[in-house]
Amino acid sequence: MAKPKRRYVCAECGSVANRWQGQCADCSQWNTLVEDAPETAFAAKHHLSGGGRVLAFEKLDAPSAPTARRSTSLAEFDRALGGGIVPGSAILMGGEPGIGKSTLLLQAAAAIARNGGDAVYVSGEEATHQVRLRASRLGLADAPVRLAAATSVRDILTTLGRDEPPALLVVDSIQTMHSDMIEGAPGTVSQVRASAFELIRYAKESGVALVLVGHVTKDGTIAGPRVLEHMVDVVLSFEGERSHQYRILRALKNRFGAVDEIGVFAMEGAGLTEVENPSALFLSGRDEPLAGSAVFPAIEGTRPVLVEIQALIVRLQSGATPRRAVVGWDTGRLAMLLAVLESRCGLSFSSAEVYLNVAGGYRLVDPAADLAVAAALVSALADKPLPLRSVWLGEVSLAGEIRPVAHTPLRLREAAKLGFDNAAGPTEGAGDKPRLAYAGLKSLSGLVDRVMASA
Ligand SMILES: Nc1ncnc2c1ncn2[C@@H]1O[C@H](COP(=O)(O)OP(=O)(O)OP(=O)(O)O)[C@@H](O)[C@H]1O
Ligand SMILES: [Mg+2]
Repeated sequence: MAKPKRRYVCAECGSVANRWQGQCADCSQWNTLVEDAPETAFAAKHHLSGGGRVLAFEKLDAPSAPTARRSTSLAEFDRALGGGIVPGSAILMGGEPGIGKSTLLLQAAAAIARNGGDAVYVSGEEATHQVRLRASRLGLADAPVRLAAATSVRDILTTLGRDEPPALLVVDSIQTMHSDMIEGAPGTVSQVRASAFELIRYAKESGVALVLVGHVTKDGTIAGPRVLEHMVDVVLSFEGERSHQYRILRALKNRFGAVDEIGVFAMEGAGLTEVENPSALFLSGRDEPLAGSAVFPAIEGTRPVLVEIQALIVRLQSGATPRRAVVGWDTGRLAMLLAVLESRCGLSFSSAEVYLNVAGGYRLVDPAADLAVAAALVSALADKPLPLRSVWLGEVSLAGEIRPVAHTPLRLREAAKLGFDNAAGPTEGAGDKPRLAYAGLKSLSGLVDRVMASA
């Protein structure tokens, strides 16, 4: 019998190669190729064009039940999921070590169990007494969660197959799971993929909502094969500074809803509490209105991030050439904006030094930041602070018009979520119902009038 062929899989992108190479040919990462479990002798001998079951095709408009969602009783968790957990869905939650993944999922499992749902929590990382200790610290010890410490997928599925499927199955974490169908230690690409595949198949067949915890690598992506993210329905990322109390739960992918809502939590002794008005945390340090400071709702990949733009204008007495210094933005773009402000709005910057800074070391490349930069400049020049809870967005043309920008509704929703109550931007593209007062500006002169009118 021919020896089964070896295959190598890239741990970063999941691409397959027939021989080991130092660098993946697809994603160019180094030392990411690992040997995959060999093909079975049975599979090697058979082809796939016969002997199967004939599929029955269905119509797109065939009646089907609407997506039912189950609330986790944690409103912020539900919000990040797009309105609750969908039965039969697979959710992958990634996050830095110690950020609170196990805490959040134990709280969600306990809440579901207390509301009469059957919640199963399988820990592959901690012994049951550790989880029990956490539960009693969180005041959840009385919740009828079924808890087990296990790492064998076969054991888990055998146990769950004996009675009614639970409503929620938490597997903490997928990197500790082991499938005896294939070779390799837990945490290897082929093990993670095979274990996830079996668990997801069980979830789809039985209607169990499955939550897999995933480790993250140094650069913040979920460890293991990228295909894991493709296999699940929802990818959540739990983020935050460990030294800081606040945590943000974001959906990076959601097959059942939008990914533009975030859940905000505070890590306290009694667990994660929901933060309904997170403005306080994101605006910390911006307590009083200062001239020259404007907030811009930026987009980072698919995620909105609010950044503060600061401008300082220093009038020069002598006729020396004034400096323009920019940190975090494009110098050429600043020169253009200053020229437009001079020629279209009659403001004079020619005898003044202009300093522009994007706070927090953030780098902006988005042209949508034009209006926020212009607002900061005009505010600094006039020494008039902008309203504290306002955001500015829009691209400025050479004629001084404010042009629509991409993802305006998403940016406005994020701003509203973070406690901002008014926004100024282009007249078009703001969406139907932003949860804040929106001023559509046609041109930069409208901006100057607005800044001059502010308190
Ligand atoms: N006694 C305590 N009082 C307050 N907070 C605590 C206490 N014990 C743990 N914590 C908090 O809980 C966090 C650990 O949470 P958790 O174990 O849920 O994280 P995790 O994301 O599951 O981590 P890992 O990746 O290691 O599994 C700690 O970083 C700490 O902030
Ligand atoms: Mg954990």
